This record gives sequence, C-alpha cells and structure tokens, in this order.
Amino acid sequence: MSATVTTLLDLLAIALFILGLHFLNSPPSARFGNRLAMLGMFIALVVVLVGTLNTGWWAVAVGVFLGALIGIVAAVRVKMTAMPQMVALYNGAGGGAAALVSTVELAVAHTRHGALDPLVAVSLVLSAAIGAISFAGSIIAFLKLQELMSGRPVTYLGQQFVNAVVALAIAALIAVFIWHLAVVPSWVYPALVVGALLFGVLFVLPIGGADMPVVISLLNSATGVAVAITGFELSNELLITGGALVGASGTILTVAMSKAMNRPLTNVLFGAFGAHGGQEVAGTGGPQNVRSVSVDDVAAMLAYASKVMIVPGYGMAVAQAQHSVKALEDQLEKRGVKVLYAIHPVAGRMPGHMNVLLAEANVPYESLLDLDAANAEFPTTDVALVIGANDVTNPAARTVKSSPIYGMPILDVDKAANVVVLKRSMRSGFAGIENPLYELPNTSMLFGDAKASVDALVAAVKEL
Ligand code: TAP
Repeated sequence: MSATVTTLLDLLAIALFILGLHFLNSPPSARFGNRLAMLGMFIALVVVLVGTLNTGWWAVAVGVFLGALIGIVAAVRVKMTAMPQMVALYNGAGGGAAALVSTVELAVAHTRHGALDPLVAVSLVLSAAIGAISFAGSIIAFLKLQELMSGRPVTYLGQQFVNAVVALAIAALIAVFIWHLAVVPSWVYPALVVGALLFGVLFVLPIGGADMPVVISLLNSATGVAVAITGFELSNELLITGGALVGASGTILTVAMSKAMNRPLTNVLFGAFGAHGGQEVAGTGGPQNVRSVSVDDVAAMLAYASKVMIVPGYGMAVAQAQHSVKALEDQLEKRGVKVLYAIHPVAGRMPGHMNVLLAEANVPYESLLDLDAANAEFPTTDVALVIGANDVTNPAARTVKSSPIYGMPILDVDKAANVVVLKRSMRSGFAGIENPLYELPNTSMLFGDAKASVDALVAAVKEL
C-alpha cells in the first residue's frame, strides 16, 4: 500500500471516529454513530495489518483475532449492570498497551542508536507513566466494582501525604530520565513504571461508592492521553487523534458526572465518599412510618390519574423491568392517562443507563424528560411512580446539610400529589443512606421485585 493511500485511509478512519462521536450526541442516532466508529476502527486495523505485511504481520493478526474474540464474548455476556467494570477493564487494557508500546520502543531505540531524540524521550516516559497509572488504577476500580475487593474507600492516616510523595517521585524520575538522555541509568525506567503502577493503586484505593464511575471516566481520559502521546512516539496520526478524542470526551464526561452529583472533582478524588459506611440522614430516625399499599390500590390510582410520571432507577435495571414498564405505559395510555418518564443523569450505574434500557423497550424519546423538565412537571403530576430509584429521589439532598448527597440535584417526586415507590425492602440505595421520602404522607410503598410488581400492575389495570 503506497504512503498516500495509507494516509488517505488514516484520514478516513479519523473522520469516521469524529462523525461517530458526533452521532452519539442523541439516542436516536447513537447506534449509527457506533457503527461509523466501528468502521473507522476496522479501516485502522486493516491499514496497520497491511503496513506490517513485510515484517511481523502475523503477530498483529493474532493480536487482532484474540482481541476481537475477547471483545465479542465480553460484549455478548456482560450484563448492563456490570458495564462500569467492563469499561474499567478496557480502560486498563488501553493504558497498559500504551505503557508496553513505550517500553518496547525504548528497547528498540537502545539497540538502534545511542541517545534518544528528546521529543521521543519525553513522549515515551509520559505515555509509560500515564499508561501505567491508568492500568493499575483501572484494575483496582474493576476489582472494587466486581466486588472482588471491598468497594468502600480504603483510607489510612497520612494517605494524601504518601500519594503526594509517590507522585513527586514519579515526576523526579521523569526529570532524571530526560536530564540524562545521553546515558540514562538503567534503573530509572523500571523504577518509573513501578512507581506509576503503585500510584495507580494508591490513587484509586481511597475512592469508592458513587464516585467510582467518575474515577473510571477520569482514568478513561488518562488512557486517551497516554495513547495520544504514544502516537507522537510512533509518528502515528491515527493514535494521536484517537487518543485525543478519548482524552477529551473522557474529560467532558468526568466533569458532567461530577456536576450531576454536585461533587467537585477534587472532592471525588480526595473526599473518600462513603468511607464511614452508610450514614443515617440526621433527623429521619430511620424509615419506621411507611405506608405499604396493594397492587390493586396502585392500579386504581394510576388508572384514574390524568398524568403519571415514571421515575426509573437502578432497581428497574436489576429487575430488567423496562419491557413491563412499557406495557404499563401502553395500558395507561389506552385509558387516556398521560405518561412521562423522569430521567436523572446519574440514575442507575452508568451515564445514560435508563435511556438505553427504555430505548430497548421502545419507549419514545419524546416521553423522556431530563431533570429540569421533569421537576417542572411534578407539581401537576397525579402519581409519581418510582421504580427502583432511591438516591436520585432523596429530598434530604435539598435540606439535610449533613447528608453525603446534600446539594445533589434530585428529582422532586415529593411534589407530586401521590408518590408510589416500587422496591423490595427498606434497604438503602448506592449512597447507603436513609430516604425520608418514604415517610412522607403522600408516599406509599409497593414492596416486591420491580418486574413482578409492574407485571401485576399491568394485569390489574387491564381488569379495571
Ligand atoms: P439507588 O439509589 O442505588 O437505589 C436503587 C434501589 O433499587 C435500591 O434502594 C433497591 O432497594 C432497589 N432495587 C434493587 N433491585 C431491585 C429490584 N429487583 N426490584 C425493585 N427494586 C430494586 O439507585 P438510583 O436512585 O438509580 O441512584 C443511582 C445511584 O448510583 C446514585 O447514588 C448515583 O450517584 C450512583 N451512581 C450513578 C452512576 C451513574 S453514572 N448513573 C454510576 C455510579 C453510581 P431494595 O434493595 O429495597 O429493592
């Protein structure tokens, strides 16, 4: 393949990545965007494979085959609720790959000639350090989310001091490497990689609870930056652009998620969220005075309402109740009830979790209201039907200063005339805190698995 054809194909792949991201802007076009990006990646792989035809093409082919096989099996088998840990693993793979490429490049450079080009040297150590941090941090994030180790923050006295010392040591090793470029002492690079791996572990250990997805998104952007820097090492525009896109989108997502949880990023990274276990919300005294209702009561309430707002959360995902929820919507709409959905930006366990599930059940996009639009509707809503959502409806976030979620914008379901909460027990949600919503006079609880309860509601509404 001539250099011009290679460059043109690289350009095409880059254009497809960018267009792919653009189409991810809205749910209806997201699938198309994904396919464009997949096509871009396919072209990129073909270009790499053809480019190595005279050298080690078989090694690339084996890598592509094994990677594709693992990717396909993982994508088919992973549950929606386990997506965050899968993303963490992929992140780790990207960061580790960037660090490995730098290590190989360094070994090759040593065999070729003496001193490294300063620009290559800088990119080499930076991508090795950032890639190794991202690799080790992502593995710890995976272990926490997969519950192979405690998901709670691991803290100890002087932790931030230790982390700062390790970070400074990494910076010093990078400086030594660049300073002694002509003859870099042989221990510097291995020490740098070990230090970066250690920092990755230490940096993620004190993070836990609801902050994990934010840190995964941050590690994702770090992997993107490491890969982009590796692109400078290899003079590969595809890697530079692909890495920059991942770095930029990861950063935007990190900031958006921190905002949605009303937690400054510094607080996420150094705040050790949930370190002291599930805190009780001051003043609630635990939810003792809750009112339990029957399926028939709720069915009647829904059937004779004018406007129903469905508020889905993590429990709907666990129960896989989205198709039943759509069936309930259809039944109610047949009776002339207006049905809308209130979508909190961090409902569930990953960005867009509820949108994806409801799209799968063919709920029209126009029925999904974001936080502000939904909150404007609650005062005129007859029934807010909360399906497996907890933290995102917790009014303590508005009023209880001591609450760990104080200040997080929530869905104001308590402003609806009636609130019906579908969950299995009085257990808390992700943040591990009590929800005073359950004791309010306009709230009733329908206990049980969300899918079973919604199926029963569909049947009961049909009977009316
Ligand atoms: P949560 O506050 O976690 O509450 C989910 C509720 O669902 C639980 O209280 C649980 O109560 C109930 N539930 C679980 N399985 C159920 C089932 N099979 N049937 C019925 N109910 C079931 O969920 P949320 O309101 O969606 O809030 C999300 C939380 O996760 C927030 O704290 C957010 O910050 C955090 N978070 C979000 C993300 C993103 S990006 N979305 C990522 C990580 C963390 P029972 O056990 O009593 O049934």
